[in-house]
Amino acid sequence: MGILKEKRTGIKSPKIIACLSQKGGGGKSTLARALAVELTKQKLNILLVDLDIQQKTSQEWSERRKQQNIKPTVNCQSFPYFPLELLKKNYDYLIIDAPARISQESLTIAKQANLIIRPVRPSLDDLNPAIREFNGLFKAGIPKSKLNFVINAVGSRAMEKATRDYLVPAEYYIFPIALEEKVSYQEAQNQGLSIGEVKYKRLQEQVKKLVKEILKKC
Ligand SMILES: Nc1ncnc2c1ncn2[C@@H]1O[C@H](COP(=O)(O)OP(=O)(O)OP(=O)(O)O)[C@@H](O)[C@H]1O
Ligand SMILES: [Mg+2]
Repeated sequence: MGILKEKRTGIKSPKIIACLSQKGGGGKSTLARALAVELTKQKLNILLVDLDIQQKTSQEWSERRKQQNIKPTVNCQSFPYFPLELLKKNYDYLIIDAPARISQESLTIAKQANLIIRPVRPSLDDLNPAIREFNGLFKAGIPKSKLNFVINAVGSRAMEKATRDYLVPAEYYIFPIALEEKVSYQEAQNQGLSIGEVKYKRLQEQVKKLVKEILKKC
């Protein structure tokens, strides 16, 4: 499909990574921004697609970044729905920062995406809905290979392990790097930085490793 399109139009279809979760506050925007910054640093032509038109948090973050003169500038736009015309644009990647709600739109995005990332917080209040959401997408025809969990905001190794153990029977891929719960991630994003640009080297490295793992799959 991608190759045919390339021959017909001379434009290669962008790869699409969607940060999806029906639950609010799990880390969709945090992960989407980290990916957008790393890909932009690799000189790739990307668009961070903010689909939460009510909150526009990633668009505001990218404007904060511009105001603070942080380089590279991250290309971000918000839309009320996923505009399929973006597929014909000459982007290398579209990073979708989805809104926290159930909608037909989630399925449209999931069908278009090459990779779906669902941040999961280590509590049953988030783990069970996360598994249900992926089961729903799988039943609707989305292949398991596209559906991936990132464990986010763990307070300890034991917590990470318990979360991983809980998710394993659902048989979706779980990225091997989990993100710790860190106030410095919030501080970074408040300043227009991504979590990969956080002030502590060890945390920077951890985020970079995770981003590398994600990009290996897409
Ligand atoms: N690992 C972490 N440690 C500390 N704070 C975090 C971590 N991950 C995310 N946060 C913070 O949690 C809040 C929610 O994260 P984020 O905005 O990325 O979630 P979201 O899924 O996009 O939320 P929404 O559904 O409202 O769009 C933000 O203030 C963010 O800075
Ligand atoms: Mg968000």
